[in-house]
Amino acid sequence: MSVTAIVGAQWGDEGKGRLVDYLAQDADMVIRFQGGDNAGHTVINEYGKFALHILPSGIFNPKTTCIVGAGTVVNLDTMQEELQGVVEQGGFIPEKLFIDRRAHLIMPFHRALDGAEEASKKKEWAVGTTKRGIGPVYSDKASRKGIRAGDILDPERLKTRLEMMLPEKNRQLEYYGLEKVSLNDLLALCAKWKEDFGDRIIDTYPLVRDAIKAEKRIIMEGQLGVMRDLDWGIYPYVTSSSPTAGGVSSGAGIAPRRINEVIGIVKVYSTSVGGGPFVAELLDETGEELRRIGGEFGATTGRPRRCGWFDAVASSYSCWLNGFTSIALTKLDVLDTFKTVKICTGYKVDGEILDYVPDTPLQERAEPVYEEWEGWECDTTGIRKWQDLPKKAQAYLERIEELTGASMKFVSVGPERDQIIVR
Ligand code: GDP
Ligand code: IMO
Ligand code: MG
Repeated sequence: MSVTAIVGAQWGDEGKGRLVDYLAQDADMVIRFQGGDNAGHTVINEYGKFALHILPSGIFNPKTTCIVGAGTVVNLDTMQEELQGVVEQGGFIPEKLFIDRRAHLIMPFHRALDGAEEASKKKEWAVGTTKRGIGPVYSDKASRKGIRAGDILDPERLKTRLEMMLPEKNRQLEYYGLEKVSLNDLLALCAKWKEDFGDRIIDTYPLVRDAIKAEKRIIMEGQLGVMRDLDWGIYPYVTSSSPTAGGVSSGAGIAPRRINEVIGIVKVYSTSVGGGPFVAELLDETGEELRRIGGEFGATTGRPRRCGWFDAVASSYSCWLNGFTSIALTKLDVLDTFKTVKICTGYKVDGEILDYVPDTPLQERAEPVYEEWEGWECDTTGIRKWQDLPKKAQAYLERIEELTGASMKFVSVGPERDQIIVR
């Protein structure tokens, strides 16, 4: 029996997709439990290189059932484009791909409002969203106005739901100087979506329940990371869902006690894309170097990612909140050429050194406290066994393990599926 949650331990882009693709080689089911096409999960395998947004990273194993769960928000237009893109790039359309009928749908006006709301904010309050409509669609969900995937299967129900929601949406669109939407256009769009995806929109409850009862191997794929969690992240510079292990239960309908493993994906340095405090950020040449060597540009938006040294304050906070049973350390090879590497072990706030992540306003005035480690200065990309890693790299990884508070199960030394060390 095994339900394994894969969650981002930092600010997102830790390499969740690559690990899910690796583990999905023998998984029966992969479930995305929150978020939408704001995700950019890079997968490199025998079919090619893919940036997945809403499709679960288990789609490359034809035996795996892939579920876009109840807690997600789905744009069926971009999902269609993504499926076509996968095929054009050498992949295939997954047969066993389903969307839970409870998942909320991202409408074109959600995207438009996301961009307009961001543009209306003062620069210092900008979240730097992916402009995929995530905030607006989750807001409608929370205020019980949303349109769910199952609604498009029932045109009468859909019509009454849209009629109820549209006057307010049009007032918002007008306020921002955006084009209003018509009921007929939306009904036509939903009719097309029904044609394209109707067979895939199902109640996933029995499927997931039966898979758990039959002790199938299930992987839960998180989006983003805890530092942008709606409750525990750097509010208001957060996403609108819960990327933590706690989000698995509500988003996929899996009780906490049925989650057997929580693997935290931990990049061996820090990156963040978007606004908000980022204590270990390097605004100098070293930061540039990390960005260049690590190829730190957004998989969804192409934006340059902010880079910094490894932040153990954030990783131990993440470990505690998620209850990591183990961690996967990614992108070790990016540090191969550095003479020295640093780890942030504390946040200095108003003269006091904190060993935990405080709330946003305190992070904004925190200064990082570092310890320095010697670099290993050799190529690790071809290494596949722990004992073959340079001793200095082992020491650095073991220090991360110690400070984070969970045992290291995987170390990845390159973006390709097999560039991984299982410890
Ligand atoms: P995700 O959003 O957590 O799935 O991560 P992203 O795909 O957005 O970002 C991770 C990036 O690092 C991608 O470009 C991956 O191909 C790449 N990557 C993953 N693991 C490694 C690794 O061990 N070494 C290197 N050099 N790149 C990696
Ligand atoms: P993956 O799954 C990194 C950031 C945005 C913004 C904030 C809110 O690939 O790790 P949103 O569009 O969700 O309303 O944006 O969160 N963000 C991400 N940063 N990786 C992601 O996804 C992200 N998804 C959103 O930059 O600051
Ligand atoms: Mg990403």
